[in-house]
Amino acid sequence: MHDSNRELILKELISKRGHYLSGETISNRLGISRAAVAKQIKILRKQGYTISAVTNRGYCLENEPDLLDIKKLAAAGITYRQVVDSTNAECRQMAENGAPAFSTIVADEQSRGRGRLGRQWHSPPRSGLWFSILLKPISLTPAETAPITLVTAAIIAGHLNEIHHLPVTVKWPNDLLIRGKKTGGILTELKAEPDRIDYLVIGIGLNINQQHNHFPAELQGQATSLMLEGNCWFNRTDLLSELHFKLIRAYRQFLKHGFSDFHNLWLQHSSTIGKSATISWAGGTVSGKAIDLDKTGSLVLEDNQGTIHHISYGEIL
Ligand code: BTN
Repeated sequence: MHDSNRELILKELISKRGHYLSGETISNRLGISRAAVAKQIKILRKQGYTISAVTNRGYCLENEPDLLDIKKLAAAGITYRQVVDSTNAECRQMAENGAPAFSTIVADEQSRGRGRLGRQWHSPPRSGLWFSILLKPISLTPAETAPITLVTAAIIAGHLNEIHHLPVTVKWPNDLLIRGKKTGGILTELKAEPDRIDYLVIGIGLNINQQHNHFPAELQGQATSLMLEGNCWFNRTDLLSELHFKLIRAYRQFLKHGFSDFHNLWLQHSSTIGKSATISWAGGTVSGKAIDLDKTGSLVLEDNQGTIHHISYGEIL
């Protein structure tokens, strides 16, 4: 009852956005007391709406919060949480509780977002997309699933280039960059035996509507957002729905046909191939020229002595 009154009040304010609407008009239209209107306005403010109030004029909606649209997400089969430690941790828990393949969870905020190599991932509220997708590729070995992170990066870069005209590139293995600055990353975690996968969680973090001063000082020179680079605000719910649809379709295709269908897409958006690179991985460091991605998804690097290396896991320094 209160919730629907709140929705109706919001509708009235949205229809008059930027103009004042008296408390009396609202209370008459809804058939509720002015005190009840005031109470709902207070809750709307707590939810992030900026509503000014002036005596004898009423209420005026100045600004809406950038909230994820829970109903739209539910319709796309995506679970929403306001705050979690990490969507990857939540998604793993969902898997342990028997959630089916392709279950997806998004959070507005992560209190302990995880990055690759044990790093933290800065995940403030109302600004980015922090989500994880569960896969159960039980017929594949852990090694065979390795390129799935590359598939994810290629699909996201392709979508942002084609549909949103943003020059997103992929830095091997899975950093999403715009003009050399990081706008997204992917953290894949798996539970497996040496020869059998239990499940795989693909965690995706995208900086969307952040301004420069939203990033911590230590990230300001290296990180960027879609809004900063594209000069426009992005509807996070719509973007998530678009990406989710394309990613699930791509995962199904990958599970049937392997990485070959995505090889060219990754190369097309790569900012690594053809360039000099120093790569560090558990086995050491090697410098040379990145010349290709092989069909298993490993980076092919020719070192300064002409030796060819196939590197499946590591980081460009
Ligand atoms: C990287 O280091 O580049 C990977 C960052 C991955 C961040 C995402 S945000 C959603 C998901 N949950 C996490 O805790 N991490 C991933």
